[in-house]
Amino acid sequence: MKKTILIMLLLSLAVLFVAACSGGNEQSAPSGDPDVAAGKALFEKTVLGTSPGCVTCHSTEPGKTIVGPSLAGIGNQSEEFLRQSILEPDADITEGFPAGTMPQTYKDDLTEEQVDQLVKYLKTLK
Ligand code: HEC
Repeated sequence: MKKTILIMLLLSLAVLFVAACSGGNEQSAPSGDPDVAAGKALFEKTVLGTSPGCVTCHSTEPGKTIVGPSLAGIGNQSEEFLRQSILEPDADITEGFPAGTMPQTYKDDLTEEQVDQLVKYLKTLK
């Protein structure tokens, strides 16, 4: 009788151990949402599809203007606004910047998934 209890105890400890290990593995995967990481990688490409990439015109440091405005704090905007900024750049022109500068090609060159990833990344810029 005592032996059975001991074996049961050891078995449940083993199960707990395995569970704890696999939990740990999940946590050590690239931090956070994989879509955000993919979006950041897209954002940092110097060429995106047939046009220059986002980083060639946008800094994520506050107040640093390259060709376009700094995107520091842009994550406070709605997902709708961010999506439209990529797909229809001239729909809403940022004050003080010229229209027609941001490439109009992203809607053709990027997949729906890539646009989602970029938007998720931009949402982290707060
Ligand atoms: C050739 C330069 C250029 C590239 C490349 C570019 N942008 Fe822009 N972007 C601009 C300019 C200029 C503006 C401001 C005028 C306007 O609103 O169109 C702007 C505006 C924006 C805005 C609105 C900012 C605000 O404060 O309202 C967002 C968001 C944005 N860009 C995101 C992106 C993303 C994401 C990419 C890459 C997929 C990208 N841009 C690539 C030049 C660029």
